[in-house]
Amino acid sequence: MKIGIDKASFFTPPTYVDMVELAEARDVDPNKYLIGIGQEKMGIADKAYDVVAMAANAAQQILSDEDKEEIDMVLFATETGVDFSKAGATWLHDLLGIQPYARSIELKQACYSATAGIQLAMGHIALHPESKVLVLASDIAKYGVNTGGEPTQGAGAVAMLLSANPNILALETESASYTADIDDFWRPTYSDYAYVDGKYSNEAYLNTLMATWNHYKEKQKAELSDFETLLFHVPYTKMGRKALQALEDELDEETSARFNEYYEAAIVYNNIVGNIYTGSLYLSLISLLEQAENLKAGARIGMFSYGSGAVGEFFVGELQEDYQDYLMRETHEELLDHRTKLSISEYEEILSNPVEIDEEGNATIDVQEVSPQNFVFVGVDQHRRQYDKASNVKQ
Ligand code: CAA
Repeated sequence: MKIGIDKASFFTPPTYVDMVELAEARDVDPNKYLIGIGQEKMGIADKAYDVVAMAANAAQQILSDEDKEEIDMVLFATETGVDFSKAGATWLHDLLGIQPYARSIELKQACYSATAGIQLAMGHIALHPESKVLVLASDIAKYGVNTGGEPTQGAGAVAMLLSANPNILALETESASYTADIDDFWRPTYSDYAYVDGKYSNEAYLNTLMATWNHYKEKQKAELSDFETLLFHVPYTKMGRKALQALEDELDEETSARFNEYYEAAIVYNNIVGNIYTGSLYLSLISLLEQAENLKAGARIGMFSYGSGAVGEFFVGELQEDYQDYLMRETHEELLDHRTKLSISEYEEILSNPVEIDEEGNATIDVQEVSPQNFVFVGVDQHRRQYDKASNVKQ
């Protein structure tokens, strides 16, 4: 039985920062951000778009009434969650109208946890072939104003419906994972911002890529030319280029040219959304499928997932017959084309002003720049977070 991704979509908030303007404000050569980092724009989430609201918006684009009856597990992957105890998946289960007899949990391991969700979903569906599992990956990447990580921020969510006999991508059961206890990027519970050892994190990413690929290669007697192309976790688009470079010695000329050409399609969305942490690999998958030409059913795609701290996995998917019919290219292009550019001072204001809770545990969120069909975070009522459709909120 084939198991894999039946439907997939993403959401990013309606506001962004232009990287040339950010470079000018930081007195940096814009080519450092455009070429050296490889980012043109960076999605910025104002208070109305927390990780739950973004995930709900990604998911509502793909779920039919039938799916909502058949989903029996909601896996919410995030490293920027909104509660230490309650899973974001419980709000999402409600907002999306999923039938009540479902398991709903939150998963964490930096940018790797959506892949953990996919692997858990695969095992669950293998035991219960009639089940569908909703895997959601949602994060706000935030290092702070004027920090080393600032040009590698972003915000967004990916929603994937996993099922038997999937329409888009069947996932192979064999993969190679790897764990090493390191401190390359982390966020202690007392900090709103991530700590990162930037250069070391690049190194750790590449070491984990080689560890997982070498283990997979040995176990499966595989070669890189077995794949039509590769996809990577994309914290910034230059990182995937570094990954391709690290594998270059194993690539013949034709395979190298093919991988590099497909990589351009695989970063069209990431280049203007920025880092969305655990959803980044899957944003790159959606970008590849929607933007590449001549990618045919039957193609095997090797994927590398990386979460600092660190856990990595190399795994493989096979494109299904007529997969193009199940993509949402127009919806995604429209979302990206209708965003508003923030000035650098507006962006700094958003980043420096977290939600303020008053003494009674209440907060009201000023909801702006939203489409009526979007879910938004509207406030806190006696320490209880509230979400609604923007069409129900007075603006
Ligand atoms: N024109 C063209 N290129 C230029 C340039 C110019 N004018 N000026 C500089 N560059 C190039 C540099 O040569 C360098 O290229 P290489 O990486 O190929 O050597 C690149 O721009 C970046 O320059 P620096 O190394 O000087 O940049 P930096 O010190 O500001 O740090 C960073 C960059 C380490 C990515 C930093 O932004 C950071 O810490 N980001 C957060 C951490 C991160 O994303 N790590 C990725 C791996 S960990 C992970 O993947 C998990 C996750 O999601 C966080």
